[in-house]
Amino acid sequence: MTSTQSWGDNVLVEFEDGIAWVQLNRPDKRNAMSVGLAEDMNKVLDALEVDDRCGVIVLTGVGDAFSAGMDLKDFFRATDGVSDVERMRAYRSTRAWQWRTLMHYAKPTIAMVNGWCFGGAFTPLICCDLAIASEDATFGLSEINWGVIPGGVVSKAISTLLNDRKAMYYVMTGEKFDGRKAEELGLINEAVPADQLRARTVELAKVLLAKNPTVLRQARLAYKYARYMDWEQAAEYLTAKADQTTFVDPERGREEGLKQFLDDKTYRPGHGTYQREG
Ligand code: ACO
Repeated sequence: MTSTQSWGDNVLVEFEDGIAWVQLNRPDKRNAMSVGLAEDMNKVLDALEVDDRCGVIVLTGVGDAFSAGMDLKDFFRATDGVSDVERMRAYRSTRAWQWRTLMHYAKPTIAMVNGWCFGGAFTPLICCDLAIASEDATFGLSEINWGVIPGGVVSKAISTLLNDRKAMYYVMTGEKFDGRKAEELGLINEAVPADQLRARTVELAKVLLAKNPTVLRQARLAYKYARYMDWEQAAEYLTAKADQTTFVDPERGREEGLKQFLDDKTYRPGHGTYQREG
């Protein structure tokens, strides 16, 4: 069953078969991310984390843009000359949804890049767990071409996925690239023809929806935290996280998987997934 809900003036959410299509909804501004959009996105992400209609979030844009980046009027012109405190508040609300919340969100997230993706839009793109783009989507770190640096947290975000030579090339040239190139760079998982974008995203979302949700959440968060630890810390943390996962998993997935493999002989990890209803 499909239903659609607006969040403020800036975000539209369509619910369908466990997928929440979270759509940045300022198509006439190419989904540039304003202060109002940040406030709406904070409310959306907060609400969907505990909404049973949402098993997976797909973040995308209405119209022909994923997002044209930070709203230059709101985040540059309008914050010039205001007090530091007002500026700080505007930045805090955008940082909250774009990376603090998305990075460690309780549910899996896929960015579906349907068109223009510039500047600040790289941050939520990178902070989603997975990303798929249309082959003809256009990406660009355009900042250098109009007199600013890739700020906010964009430079940090790209350094987590691109190697230094490639990141520096785009930081310094501002050259645009398409979805195919984004895949080659490792910025996204895959690029597909525009007419297959939604279908491929649904296919991937369904794979995620079929997993044990507790274990999937723990696996995503464990990876994201462990990558910044040294080996000793990671070993300790991951062992504790694995025990915690067993403890909090209402499905008892570990026990069931072992039983199906070792006792019942009904399941081989190399050939698929354990039977969740088994
Ligand atoms: N901030 C504010 N308004 C924007 C932004 C933006 N980032 N991007 C587009 N808009 C507005 C335009 O000003 C225009 O508004 P108007 O109708 O009131 O004049 C409207 O959206 C439509 O934009 P057009 O440029 O007319 O659309 P077009 O389809 O021709 O081009 C494109 C789209 C290529 C995305 C172009 O708008 C553009 O280059 N935008 C800026 C992209 C950019 O460099 N973003 C990075 C910002 S830096 C940062 O994020 C830190």
